[in-house]
Amino acid sequence: MKAIRFHETGGPEVLTLEEVELAPPGPGEVTVRLAAIGVNFIETYQRSGLYKLPLPSGLGGEGAGTVEAVGNGVTDFQIGDRVAYCTASPGSYAEAQNVLATKLIHLPDEIGFETAAAAMLKGLTAQYLLKQTYVVKKGETILFHSAAGGVGLIASQWAKHLGARVIGTVGSDSKIALAQENGCDLVLNLNQDDWVAKVKEANGGKGLAVVYDSVGKDTFAGSLDCLAPRGLMVSFGNSSGAVDPFSPTLLSQKGSLYLTRPTLFHYASTPQELQAMADDLFAVLATGAVKIAVNQRFELKDARAAHQALQSRQTTGATVLIP
Ligand SMILES: NC(=O)c1ccc[n+]([C@@H]2O[C@H](COP(=O)([O-])OP(=O)(O)OC[C@H]3O[C@@H](n4cnc5c(N)ncnc54)[C@H](OP(=O)(O)O)[C@@H]3O)[C@@H](O)[C@H]2O)c1
Repeated sequence: MKAIRFHETGGPEVLTLEEVELAPPGPGEVTVRLAAIGVNFIETYQRSGLYKLPLPSGLGGEGAGTVEAVGNGVTDFQIGDRVAYCTASPGSYAEAQNVLATKLIHLPDEIGFETAAAAMLKGLTAQYLLKQTYVVKKGETILFHSAAGGVGLIASQWAKHLGARVIGTVGSDSKIALAQENGCDLVLNLNQDDWVAKVKEANGGKGLAVVYDSVGKDTFAGSLDCLAPRGLMVSFGNSSGAVDPFSPTLLSQKGSLYLTRPTLFHYASTPQELQAMADDLFAVLATGAVKIAVNQRFELKDARAAHQALQSRQTTGATVLIP
């Protein structure tokens, strides 16, 4: 089968389409013939070397498709089942992948493969951020950076549905309308607005109880300044680069703040947690309150172009690869 692989870390150009052998599924595994593959920012960190993978490596942790073969001991999945997954084991940028059955979710009939590939990792992330890391409450104001991005568009809609007042940030004016149409009450341009001052102004001069920051290096300090005393900083990504090291005293100086650096795989760590989070996601999709926007599609062979678009801030919503 064909798969995207890389032998050294670097820019998008290190990604190459190769012919590889796919072994039969091992015990507890299922072979998924992929119909759509989710592209996530984490894969740019893995490709660049910010997050280390043993090389050479495949890439991609999210996909949707049809079960083609089942390994020994798998009882919950059969050949022909429609499934989706997100996993920390890289390799979904491919025509097929062997995945542990414990990481698979049966897809409801009404959810298509592209939607599923776009919704699993990003939607489950929005689920745990808004409903577990911090329980967003009706009437409160939250700040969510990269509001027009893959996770951001889902989270903005979902937070609005939960009754929050959502302040979003974007990197260019061209993304403002999209963020507004998807749940943001106020959208600030990180590159033009004095966004820290405007966040406080929009909240009656007070800090917020929670800030969701996936931009990292460029926004970390400003995000802390948006918080009320004892507020929670949820630092869940590094789109602009890793946050610089700092002393915990900073959290005390800025108001006895709390800081968490969560990752999806610690929230969806058991099949039961994964299923419960997926059920919650599918339920909110079924109401229509959250819609999945697949705004970029690339052929699998064009994974380089997909990475280029994502890391140069040209994308909105979700990006998928089609094998
Ligand atoms: N911890 C977790 O469990 C978890 C899970 C999923 C995703 N994440 C993180 O959440 C973030 C969003 O992921 P995603 O896949 O949905 O990506 P995305 O939001 O679609 O793309 C990243 C966005 O970051 C913004 N950005 C700000 N500064 C940037 C810079 N210097 N270079 C590039 N982009 C910059 C851009 O939006 P603007 O142009 O509008 O600023 C860009 O569109 C990523 O940081 C990712 O690592 C974390």
